[in-house]
Amino acid sequence: MEHELIGILDFGSQTTQLIARRVREAGVYCEILMPDVRPQDLRTRHLKGLILSGGPASVYARGAPRCDPRIFELNVPILGICYGMMLACRTLGSRITAAREREFGRASLRIADGTPLFDGVPRETVVWMSHGDKVETTSEEFEVLANTESCANAAVRHRARPLYGVLFHPEVAHTSHGALILRNFLFSICGCRGDWEMASVIESSVAQIRDAVGPSGRVLCALSGGVDSTVTATLVHRAVENRLTCVMVDNGLLRLDEARQVKDLLGGQMHLNLRIVDASALFLRKLRGVSDPERKRRIIGHAFIDVFTREARKVKGAQFLAQGTLYPDVIESRSAWGGPSAVIKTHHNVGGLPKKLKFKLIEPLRHLFKDEVRHMGRALGLPDTLVDRQPFPGPGLAVRCIGPLTRDRLDILRKADAIVREEIERADLHRRLWQYFAVLLPVSTVGVMGDARTYENVIAVRAVESTDGMTADWARLPEDALARIGSRLINEVKGVNRAVLDISSKPPATIEWE
Ligand code: XMP
Repeated sequence: MEHELIGILDFGSQTTQLIARRVREAGVYCEILMPDVRPQDLRTRHLKGLILSGGPASVYARGAPRCDPRIFELNVPILGICYGMMLACRTLGSRITAAREREFGRASLRIADGTPLFDGVPRETVVWMSHGDKVETTSEEFEVLANTESCANAAVRHRARPLYGVLFHPEVAHTSHGALILRNFLFSICGCRGDWEMASVIESSVAQIRDAVGPSGRVLCALSGGVDSTVTATLVHRAVENRLTCVMVDNGLLRLDEARQVKDLLGGQMHLNLRIVDASALFLRKLRGVSDPERKRRIIGHAFIDVFTREARKVKGAQFLAQGTLYPDVIESRSAWGGPSAVIKTHHNVGGLPKKLKFKLIEPLRHLFKDEVRHMGRALGLPDTLVDRQPFPGPGLAVRCIGPLTRDRLDILRKADAIVREEIERADLHRRLWQYFAVLLPVSTVGVMGDARTYENVIAVRAVESTDGMTADWARLPEDALARIGSRLINEVKGVNRAVLDISSKPPATIEWE
């Protein structure tokens, strides 16, 4: 049976994905939808409610995103957040004007009695605001549920319809009872049961893959050894067993011992049919001496397609390609304002493959967030060491070896990277980190070893905290861990005489150096 669905209409807020996270955390399946989704397309789904997100526009601005007013006739509860509230109120007869004072950040919300939306929430509670407009006069049809110092209508309810609006953001952690308010909406108001749990998600994914592939279809999967491709492969393997062939391309840009570890775990313990293709000589030949980051990325992307295409042809009769595309990739490819956002880096993923190879795609993770994939990996019996692995970019160590690429420089970086990872994991710091790695810089500095002058390489240590890789802060690592890393890098990695710490956040820096 189809899962209960909460639809989130995205009006372009920075926190739309957070709304989806909170809803899923409550055990309710949700999808982020374009604001102009057609009501008739929602009628065919098991729709339990709608959330209208915030957004950067003013509802009265020209070109501001709107929704089809017939979604208010769908007869399911609706919660409008910030822009979503103003849009709902305006559509149903209230006046929206610019507020005299814009309200950003913390505010104290005073709640009136007796509304299920605020069940269990103290009468006075901290909420997070981010708006420049206000609902001027709620029409007779709306009842005011809460206010703040500067805003008389901070939460409203329609008198005749199951429609609620809040001007603050319940999805952000700074709103102290935000998760409870959202749960009240989902369970008390929409009547959700909370049927989104991993065992059933796995079961239905496996059934869908079996259906799509049929009784004799063959599937190919490009395996990187990362969480997404491994969980994808494991799911597909569960559905079609040995009709799945996994191909891992060793491009010579992997971390120390990485190909062997993947082989032992997936080929050995998990019994996946895995081919590791050593193409390192080809990649390194094409990359020799290349310094420009975008050129590196392009060369690696093209070489990957060539090698994979060649290998794919060897797998007789494979019509399907399994890919670990995640939900954020699906959402980010469209936006409420139309048009993609600026390209900062050309990301290399196996996404470029299918057009050329004419495969049918199997993307079992395309509705999951990264932490749900991890959760699924655990439920599938994958070890923590794999499930908790930090993300590793497709172009691998190439984008951490700043300046010209050579095998020798990559070897230095590989050893340095292993030390950084080992020390951080030994000190048990990795759980709170999104990524931690070494970067080899294209400069030499003077040092003194023994009594001799040295003129050698510099390693930068990069460790960041992040929840999704979109923004990140540099990690405040304890001094003793940093001291051990510094001393080991210089003592153990031949060719390195200096180590520095990267203290840049994203933005304005990016996580990777290239
Ligand atoms: P940046 O450097 O853009 O990275 O802040 C954000 C996240 O994306 C990863 N990353 C990549 N992942 N292919 C990938 O699959 C790539 O080309 C790529 N470049 C960066 C990066 O490691 C970080 O987690």
